[in-house]
Formats: sequence, C-alpha cells, structure tokens
Amino acid sequence: MRFLDACRREKTDATPVWFMRQAGRYMPEYRALREKHGMLELCRTPELAAEVTLQPVRAFAVDAAILFADILLPLPPMGLKLEFAEGEGPRLSPPVRTEKDVDALRVFDPSEGLGFVLEAVRLARRMLAGKVPLIGFAGAPFTLAAYAVEGGPSKDYAHVRAMMRERPDLWGRLMTKLAGVSGAYLLAQARAGAQALQLFDSWAGILTREEYARFAAPYSKKVLDEAAKSGVPLVHFGTNTAPFLEEFRDAGGDVVGVDWRIPLDEAWRRIGYGRAVQGNLDPAKLSAPLPELKEAVAEVLRRAGGRPGHIFNLGHGIPKDTPPDRVKAVAEWVHEMSSR
Ligand code: CP3
Repeated sequence: MRFLDACRREKTDATPVWFMRQAGRYMPEYRALREKHGMLELCRTPELAAEVTLQPVRAFAVDAAILFADILLPLPPMGLKLEFAEGEGPRLSPPVRTEKDVDALRVFDPSEGLGFVLEAVRLARRMLAGKVPLIGFAGAPFTLAAYAVEGGPSKDYAHVRAMMRERPDLWGRLMTKLAGVSGAYLLAQARAGAQALQLFDSWAGILTREEYARFAAPYSKKVLDEAAKSGVPLVHFGTNTAPFLEEFRDAGGDVVGVDWRIPLDEAWRRIGYGRAVQGNLDPAKLSAPLPELKEAVAEVLRRAGGRPGHIFNLGHGIPKDTPPDRVKAVAEWVHEMSSR
C-alpha cells in the first residue's frame, strides 16, 4: 500500500496523500452526526468513531485513514475532567500545577482506561477491509502537558514555562507519567490493528531549541521507543519545529512531519534522506483561488523531487471552513502530478 511503502522509503506508483483532521467539521457528513452526538460521545462510541474515520476515505482519494479520536482522551483516565465547550476549544480541570496535582495523576492500562478507542481501531480496520491503512495516534508529552498545565489552549503558556523554569524536577515527573501513558497507548493501538502510528507534538514550536532538547525531546523519544516495539511505521509530527528540526528528528520516527513554514527540500536536507518526510502544504492555501492552490500542490511535489519517502499532507490540520471539493481536488492532483 502506497502510504506504508512510502513510510519505509520504498518506491510507489504515485505519492501517497492524506490530511491531518481529514474527518471533521468541514465535512457535511460529520456535521450531520455531530447534530446528534457530542464530540466526546463520538469518540467514546466505537461504532460512531469508526464511521467518522471512514467518511473521508469514502469521499476522497486519500491513501490512509486516521482514527477518529482526540489527543486529549488519555487525560480523563489520568484523573482530569475534559470538556469541549462549543467554539472555545478543550477545557481540562483541575489544571496540573502543584506537586499534589502531579502525584494524583494515574498511569493507567490503555485496555482499561481507553478500551473504547482500541475497539474503534478494531472496527475501523474491519470496515476499511484493506482499502487503505489505518493510522493510530497519540499526543506527545509536551503538547499533552501544555494542555494539562494550562487547563486548555493558551496564548503565552505562562504556567508551563514557569513549571519548566522553577520546578524542573516536577516537570520531569509530569512528563515521565505522560510519556508512559502515550507510549503504552500507541503500542496498544498497534496491537488492536493500527498499521502506522503518529505522535502529535503540535505545541512543541513554542519552545526554543535548548528548551526543546531539555524539556521535551527525551520524553518524546521514550514514547517513540516504546511505540517502535510494535514494528509499525512511526510518524513524528510537530509545528514550528524548524529551529530544532535536527533534535526533533533525533527524538525518533520513521517519518518526520514538516509544517509549511520551512520549504520541504530544505527540511528534508536537514532531516537527512535516511528518513521519510510528511507535508507540507500551507493549510491556508485550501481557500486560495484554484490555480494558486494547484500551483502550491505542484511546488510541494517539486521540492520533494520525486524521491521515495514523501507523503503528501498539509503542514497542519484542515481548517474547519474548507470546502470539501478542495480536499478532493488536492488528493486527485497529488496522484496525477506525481504518477510515475
Ligand atoms: O486528524 C483526524 O482527522 C483525526 C482526528 C483528530 C482530532 N483531533 C479530532 C477532533 C486528531 C488527530 C486530533 C488531534 C488533536 N486534538 C491535536 C493535535 C493536532 C492539531 O491539530 O494540532 C490537538 C492539539 C487536539 C486538541 C483539540 N481537540 C483541539 C484544539 C480541538 C479544537 C476545538 C475547537 O472547537 O475548535 C479539538 C476538538 C476536535 N478534535 C475536533 C475534531 C474533529 C472538533 C470537534 C467538534 O466540535 O466536532
């Protein structure tokens, strides 16, 4: 299968393509289900999660399915309350700030705390029937910690920065717990049938190179080392990682996710051709005039240079106001333009 072959840097008949957040609010099929069910209800009902996972596979020529879930799902079994308030993004309570808060977090067995996700993996695998591979995922410790410590999205990450600076010991204990949970969770998803695994470190880019190397990379490495025991390809994704791309690569992953702030050829040169790369169309281009969008797709492919080991994706998730026909067009163009 194209996607899995590309992860291993093998030649493919065309460049594989899938999209982060390919299932979601920009799709009418998804909105129809969301009218009846909350976001967390979709995630916690395996039949619904598997159904949403397949929606983009039916609608577009994507080469992979990503499990419908959320990176924050492991936080409730650790002891935090998670809510998605309409239009506000996720809320976590109580925020993890003190010694007592960190000690109270439970490191749980994924088959107990997240059995519904593992069931969704099994169901989605069966429903995909070999059409395209299924990607499982988890949040990287840094991004999870950022949400847990701030209690939700944040502009300045003041509490996270304060904990790293003033209590590096406490930070280390928190990150060690999160790494244990994420690693076991990824491994369990592979054992339930996920054919590749992606680690999302969406907020790593708020760190400097030195901070990333000290406060985040060792814990991501722990997660990726654990997940590697599954033998399935690992994708390591982050945004704003250009300042520390080498450290990011060294934390692990067969495939390194690249965002749009750095040209793909330059990123691949720095990562080294011994790894596959995934990316890196600017998500904002999805709402540009069609010729501009098409040229942007062509440019990403040109920069990949036809080298085996490129997986086409956006530099981050699909924006929620994207017209679905744009997503359809991009997937088709990628295949046409890269056909060999
Ligand atoms: O990519 C996919 O299609 C798979 C599903 C997926 C979701 N979230 C579904 C979702 C994945 C891989 C994620 C990852 C995720 N979740 C990340 C890392 C990737 C990234 O985009 O940076 C982060 C930071 C989260 C946390 C989170 N969950 C946020 C910030 C939000 C948005 C809140 C909002 O209202 O805009 C969510 C909710 C969420 N996760 C939605 C979806 C489809 C929207 C929920 C809805 O209202 O229907």
